[in-house]
Amino acid sequence: MSEWTPSTWRALPAEQQPEWPDEHALEQALKTLSTLPPLVFAGEARALRAALAQVAAGKAFLLQAGDCSESFNDFTADSIRDKLKVILQMAVVLTYGTGTPVVKLGRIAGQFAKPRSAPYEVVNGVQIPSFRGHMVHDDAPTPEARRPDPSRLIAAYHQSASTLNLLRAFTKGGFADLSQVHMWNQQFVASSRQGQRYEAIAGEIDRALRFMAACGIDLRAEESLHQVDFYTSHEALVLGYEEALTRRDSLTGAWYDTSAHLLWVGDRTRQPEGAHVNFLSGVGNPVAAKLGPEATAEDVLALCRILDPGREPGRLTLIARLGAGRVERLLPPLQEAVRAAGHPVVWVCDPMHANTFMSDGGRKTRRLDDVLAEISGFFSACRVTGSWPGGVHVELTGDSVTECLGGAEEIVEDDLELRYTTTCDPRLNARQSLDLAFQVAELLRAG
Ligand code: TRP
Ligand code: MN
Repeated sequence: MSEWTPSTWRALPAEQQPEWPDEHALEQALKTLSTLPPLVFAGEARALRAALAQVAAGKAFLLQAGDCSESFNDFTADSIRDKLKVILQMAVVLTYGTGTPVVKLGRIAGQFAKPRSAPYEVVNGVQIPSFRGHMVHDDAPTPEARRPDPSRLIAAYHQSASTLNLLRAFTKGGFADLSQVHMWNQQFVASSRQGQRYEAIAGEIDRALRFMAACGIDLRAEESLHQVDFYTSHEALVLGYEEALTRRDSLTGAWYDTSAHLLWVGDRTRQPEGAHVNFLSGVGNPVAAKLGPEATAEDVLALCRILDPGREPGRLTLIARLGAGRVERLLPPLQEAVRAAGHPVVWVCDPMHANTFMSDGGRKTRRLDDVLAEISGFFSACRVTGSWPGGVHVELTGDSVTECLGGAEEIVEDDLELRYTTTCDPRLNARQSLDLAFQVAELLRAG
């Protein structure tokens, strides 16, 4: 095989690529992107890889969370801050409740492209191209809005840069300090049962910190109390964009996709001979693959061979999205095959994507109970095979949306109309997310 380069994928079949109407405009946009500064730096991607190696060894847990699809319209400091608040709350619940370190990985600052099962959809009797994310076109249901526009690739880069900038400021500049635990509990969350349960933990953390200070420990000198390492990830779907941001690391000479710390291939683009897997095979970042219910042990082994030939802990994460009713049956054979082949992968549960259905009112939704049932089935499967349940991958927002059913507020189908603002899949709101974190902490403790 000849040497891999960031453009090797171009000779291979690439699923789910937008049909850009203006080839020349696309080339210009990609050329511009390739001159812009990297968003993340290779050393950070290696740090995430090392953190994931701890997860692979059963010594840490991965929390990967964020929007299904980030929006160009809902782009404010408040929405980024509120998303971070709920992720920090979940991390506190998991860390405090289990005594296990939590690796925090946002599905954010680059999650702008969506694969779709059907190229077209019918809205109000008119057939229009399916929505593929704001990196490609607008979500308004008109043929004009859905025309792919390459200038959006550059807009996605800039929005990623400013999102990442704010996240870095928040996570390193005092906002994520453990002395701020109470502040992350938003009002509409604090008033709920989970919110109160969270307050109790926050109070205990305060007491523990006061105790350590009274013992003479200099808490100011303990950097880890005052900041968190927060990493970013998205689906590497639009390969021209990913290629343009792939650079050679001056330190090691290796290629890194500098659009995010971790990139994944979706269940629809994980063909071993396809362009997406080829692209990820050559970058030094930690990478992941989503596995749907159709994935066979042979499929998974082929992915392991290509994406983790060196059998390196932290390199490859496998994200199972199998469905609440099927995970306990489908996951063990995959885990056993991977184990037998000697790949030290991280196993993660995405309890969202295989539990989606249409409400009677025509809204895509999910039941929190199904989401929790899939996580619980994932833990059972891992227990059967002796694998470490390495983490969860969830779609959430810090807002008080009504997109998923159930939870302590008992959102029912009629409520979906109230605050349904996602541009793609239904997300857990902040209360439902906290609820999930408590359940995961319990499952981890029970294991
Ligand atoms: N830095 C530690 C960690 O990331 C402790 C910590 C600081 C923390 N702020 C946090 C943990 C916020 C969870 C949430 O684990
Ligand atoms: Mn989704």
